[in-house]
Amino acid sequence: DPDAARDGKKRSNFSEQEAWEEQQIRKSRLHFGSNDGGRAGDGYELVFDTAVDFVKSVVQAGADADGEMDELAEDLDMKVALQRELQDERKNLPVYQLKDDLLKAIEEYQVLIIVGETGSGKTTQIPQYLHEAGYTAKGKKIACTQPRRVAAMSVAARVAQEMGVKLGHEVGYSIRFEDCTSEKTVIKYMTDGMLLREFLGEPDLASYSVVIVDEAHERTLSTDILFGLVKDIVRFRPDVKLLISSATLNAEKFSDFFDEAPIFKIPGRRYKVDILYTKAPEANYIKAAVGTILQLHLTEPAGDILLFLTGQEEIETVEETLKEAMRGLGSKMPELVICPIYANLPTELQAKIFEPAPEGARKVVLATNIAETSLTIDGIKYVIDPGFCKIKSYNPRTGMESLLRAPISKASADQRAGRSGRTGPGKCYRLFTEFNFRNDLDDDTVPEIQRSNLANVVLRLKALGINDLVNFDFMDPPASESLLKALEELFALGALNRRGELTKTGRRMAEFPLDPMLSKAIVASEKYKCSEEVITIAAMLSAGNAVFYRPKDKQVHADTAKQAFHVGDVGDHVALLNLYNAWKETGYSPQWCRENFVQSRTMKRARDVRDQLEALLERVEIEPCSGAGDLIAIRKAFTAGYFRNAARRQKDGSYRAVKSHQMVFVHPSSGMAQVLPPWVVYHELVETTKEYMRQVTELKPEWLVEIAPHYYQHKDIDQHETKKMMAKGKGRAAM
Ligand code: CDP
Ligand code: MG
Repeated sequence: DPDAARDGKKRSNFSEQEAWEEQQIRKSRLHFGSNDGGRAGDGYELVFDTAVDFVKSVVQAGADADGEMDELAEDLDMKVALQRELQDERKNLPVYQLKDDLLKAIEEYQVLIIVGETGSGKTTQIPQYLHEAGYTAKGKKIACTQPRRVAAMSVAARVAQEMGVKLGHEVGYSIRFEDCTSEKTVIKYMTDGMLLREFLGEPDLASYSVVIVDEAHERTLSTDILFGLVKDIVRFRPDVKLLISSATLNAEKFSDFFDEAPIFKIPGRRYKVDILYTKAPEANYIKAAVGTILQLHLTEPAGDILLFLTGQEEIETVEETLKEAMRGLGSKMPELVICPIYANLPTELQAKIFEPAPEGARKVVLATNIAETSLTIDGIKYVIDPGFCKIKSYNPRTGMESLLRAPISKASADQRAGRSGRTGPGKCYRLFTEFNFRNDLDDDTVPEIQRSNLANVVLRLKALGINDLVNFDFMDPPASESLLKALEELFALGALNRRGELTKTGRRMAEFPLDPMLSKAIVASEKYKCSEEVITIAAMLSAGNAVFYRPKDKQVHADTAKQAFHVGDVGDHVALLNLYNAWKETGYSPQWCRENFVQSRTMKRARDVRDQLEALLERVEIEPCSGAGDLIAIRKAFTAGYFRNAARRQKDGSYRAVKSHQMVFVHPSSGMAQVLPPWVVYHELVETTKEYMRQVTELKPEWLVEIAPHYYQHKDIDQHETKKMMAKGKGRAAM
């Protein structure tokens, strides 16, 4: 019996290896004992765990004794050496000097504001200190919020490595649709939005002994709401500690808000940074940036480069251009290692930005705003700053939110420059003039809460039982016009009643970590008996915009493959459904994705998201049911969520939003771009050269009145009225 034979071999191997294992463990104990001044708990015990896990995993895989054992030993030695190096690095961080003072201050005060230069070790070290000091005893956890997903993931990975544990065990992270934690987790990095969600299930955050609101200076919408909520919690939970951590020195504002909480300063190491401005404004900062990189690479001494761009598209353009330029320059040029970093970058590629460039090569990091304060990359000596970032802006009159490229603030520009002076003197090339800097840039960035659609936040607060929004403790209150608009929007969606109280629909909607409009479409799918289809589409919409790719040499093939999902041509939503189902039928095959020019990563994510939405459906007690291809039902469910995003075609092929009369266009990537149905409902607007509707689906105008009678009247969809509206809007139409 071959099975028995294998088992026998495994068993005999095991005893041999057990002995060896013990020897290795003793060895690693010695390594650490001598290195560490004998202080236990400094990551030492945990390294020991990993060694055991590691050996066991190899044993279980049925490793062959001799040759692999040597490799194993070598590998283990390397791990031990790496650990030792990491522990040394930890002790070199500015925060390490203040460890005892900091712990004392935390013990003494319930709320503490911590301020320190980026890279001083706030995010990675403080949770570890608290863990070592016993704050995670009795099954309590430490929460540390980050405004960005990538930062939460990468910091958690780093800390897991420093502690010598597997990511997701003692150290984990939680971001929307991805929970990498377990029962063991004591240090939990999470996006600020996720902590906000946790209030729904645990209004007093009882499972946490410490809450760290990190990167507080970023003032994201979720962070600002958290401020109000955690401030309330510390009043009735004397056992909880609250740390507000920020990179800017302007911490008085936080202290004022948190009832004069003391400020703990971590003196940063910041070397001198030379700031160079362009003499004249740059017409094209992409070109200017590429030029600056190449020139710098040829003429300046060793040191890595960090370039700030506004988004993935720009980063990809610069990456392409740089690669081409380097090829053109041939072998005379020393090597340039290009490392992009942005929110949607696949996890496996994110680690690359932290790896040092090989001998003789120079690294250039192309980053979004994420590298401004959330992530510290060692070795940066040159910063190139075009002076722009993508910023959300909101027009409460139309209710439209858009992501626009806008100049950064003076505070941001200084943060960016500072990235070059962390390990030695640095240089910052600003691709704008000194006059621009002094006269055109605002001092500080406006908090997100003052430039956002608040429907989502209001829904969440209502779900937490916070009804009186006007008197909510905001650090900077939003415009009352925006609050009103949000209430109106939620009322129109049926989430609130006339008295502004949460309805059953609203309560169900609040369970979904999605925009209210999308949550509403899901809740409405119950009525239209097509919840299976609607969550599939919702998952596809949430998984990211990069569903298809279009290689330059195979554009026609790619377009044909994409068009194949538009059976019946009623719109992009149904095409997404067709695509997902076709993939599912192949048993979720990556090969099939490649053949159809579909990003299998996006599809996998969609599958994960769908699983979670399915679980949430159960939680809000909506029966999973399939409309068996009833496309009208599916479209009606979406209309129930997105009726505001209805638009009507004009003679010239442009569209006008039915209510706001804003001029919009079908995005060229839409399957509807050739069809141009007379009435459409769209998922979102993106503004590039024009206002484009992305994910567009055909609609019957009667549905608007049927589904949202409180929002649309017959006159809105009436032919006659349309003409009048056109006449009124003539001036704009001619623009
Ligand atoms: O939060 P703060 O900006 O004060 O510093 P930190 O993020 O804790 O970073 C401390 C050190 O950890 C820096 O030297 C980073 O280079 C390093 N680090 C890393 O190597 N990899 C990460 N994913 C995060 C931090
Ligand atoms: Mg940090």
